[in-house]
Amino acid sequence: MKKNILCIGAGYVGGPTMAMIAHKCPDYRITVVDINPRRIDEWNSGTLPIYEPGLDELVFATRGRNLFFSTDIAGGIQDNDIIFVSVNTPTKTFGAGAGMAADLQFWEATARQILQYSESAKIVIEKSTLPVKTALAMERILNSAGNGIGFDILSNPEFMAEGSAVSDLENPDRILIGSRETERGRAARQVLVDIYARWVRPEKILTSNIWSSELSKLVANAFLAQRISSINAVSALCEKAEANVAEVARAVGMDSRIGPKFLNASVGFGGSCFKKDILNLVYLCRSYGLDEVADYWEGVIKINEYQQSRFTMTMLRAMFNTLAAKRICLLGFAFKANTGDTRESPAIFIARRLLEERAEVVISDPWALKNAAADLKDAAGVIRYIEDPYDAAAGCHAIAVMTEWDLYRHLDFERIHRSMSRPAFVFDGRNILDHRRLFEIGFNVYPIGKAPLTHFS
Ligand code: NAD
Ligand code: UGA
Repeated sequence: MKKNILCIGAGYVGGPTMAMIAHKCPDYRITVVDINPRRIDEWNSGTLPIYEPGLDELVFATRGRNLFFSTDIAGGIQDNDIIFVSVNTPTKTFGAGAGMAADLQFWEATARQILQYSESAKIVIEKSTLPVKTALAMERILNSAGNGIGFDILSNPEFMAEGSAVSDLENPDRILIGSRETERGRAARQVLVDIYARWVRPEKILTSNIWSSELSKLVANAFLAQRISSINAVSALCEKAEANVAEVARAVGMDSRIGPKFLNASVGFGGSCFKKDILNLVYLCRSYGLDEVADYWEGVIKINEYQQSRFTMTMLRAMFNTLAAKRICLLGFAFKANTGDTRESPAIFIARRLLEERAEVVISDPWALKNAAADLKDAAGVIRYIEDPYDAAAGCHAIAVMTEWDLYRHLDFERIHRSMSRPAFVFDGRNILDHRRLFEIGFNVYPIGKAPLTHFS
C-alpha cells in the first residue's frame, strides 16, 4: 500500500469521505475508527448506519479490500501517519457559551488520544467543522509532550451535503486545504493535495492559510442558510401581498450575480450543521467584540425559527383555531429528501407544537421513522409511525408535507382525499405538490409563500 490513512469518527462525514478515498485510491489502505462499537458493527454489516444514495455500492466494493472499520483507535493511530479527524462538534449545552459555542470536548479527546498513542510524526487533518483558531489549540496539545514527534495540522473542511454525499464527494465544487505557511506546513499540505488530485482537477483544489480554511467552512454554511432565510422571509411577504414566492425566486435567481440555487422557500432549514455553525460564527463574532456582525448572522436563525412557528400558526388558523383531537399526517420527517437524518429537522418542532395543541400526529417517512421515534420519545400525546403514506393519511384531517421526498409528488391524492376527514387540508411545507390539482380534488391547500386555495367563501 502506498499510503495508510486513518479517520477518527465514523459518522455521516467520516464513513462516506473515506469510502470515496478508498474507491479512488485502491492502492491506499484506509481505516475508519470510532468510540461507538455499535456504529462500527453497522459499518461492517449489510445495513450501513446511514442512508445515502450510492453509498452501499461504494462501501461494499471497497470494504475488506482497502477500507476497514474498527474500534481500535490506539492501533489505528500507531499504524497510520495521515489522520483525518471527523468527530462531532455539536453546540455546547452547558457552561460558558451554552447554546452558542461549539462543544469541543470530542475534538480535544481525539487530540489527546493522538498524542498518547503516536510513535512517529503525523499529519493531522481537521475534517470536522470547527471555530477558527482550533488548529492552534490542536498544535498546543500535540506539541505539549516535548518528545520530539512532529505533528502538522491541516484544515480540510467538508462541503458535502447529505442526500447527495456520494456525488458531492465524487464531483466537489472545490477542495479546500489550509496549512501553516511554513515549509513544513506546505509540505504536509502537498501530501493531502496529492490524495485529492487522484480524482479532482487541480484548479478545484484550493490551498490557503489555515485560519482562512477554518473560517471559510463556517462562512459557506452561513451564506447558504442566509439564502434560505432570505427567501423564507420573502415568502411571508408574498402571502400578504398575493405574490407567488416561486415566481419571485425565479425572477431574482435569473440574475447571474444571484443564481437560482438554494432559493426554495420551505418550512425552514434543518440538518445538523446550519444552525450549529451559524451559532458558532455568532459566538466567535461576539467573543471578538463584533456585536453588529453577530446580530446580522443571528438574524438568519431567527427567521428560520419564525418560519417554523408561522407554519404551525397557519395550520391552527386554517383549521378553525383548534387542533385538539384532530389527526394530522406529517409526510416526511427527515430534514431533507434522500436521507434518514432528522437532526434539527423542522418536523421535530412542528410535531411538538401540534402535540401541544393536542392534535394526534401520524408520521410517515421512507427512511426516518426510527430517528423520528427517538426524537419524540419524551413527547406527550398521541403519535403514530406509519411508513405507508396512504395508511398514514387515512382518517386524518390534514396532511403537512415536511420533506421533499420525490414519492410524495406522485401519490394518488384522489385516493387519499377519499380516505380523509372533511374538510381535508394540505399544508405544503416544501411547495412540491400540484396545488391547483389538489384544490380541484377537494382539498383546502396552503402552500408556502402563495395564496391559499380554499373551498370556504
Ligand atoms: P456524526 O455524529 O455522524 O459522527 C461523529 C462520530 O465521531 C460519531 O460516530 C462519534 O461516535 C465519533 N467520535 C466522537 N468522539 C470520538 C473519539 N474521541 N474517538 C473516536 N470517535 C469519536 O457527525 P458528522 O455528521 O459526521 O459530523 C462530523 C463533523 O463534520 C462535524 O464537525 C460536522 O459539523 C462536520 N460536517 C458534517 C456534515 C454532514 O453532512 N453531516 C457535512 C460537513 C461537515
Ligand atoms: C449543508 C451544506 O449544503 C453543505 O455544503 C455542508 O457541507 C453541510 O451543510 C454541513 O456542513 O453539514 P446539508 O445540511 O446536508 O448540507 O443539506 P442542504 O442541502 O444544505 O439542506 C439544508 C436544509 O436547508 C434542509 O433542511 C433543506 O431542506 C433546506 N433547504 C435547502 C431549503 O429549505 N431550501 C433550499 O432552497 C435549500
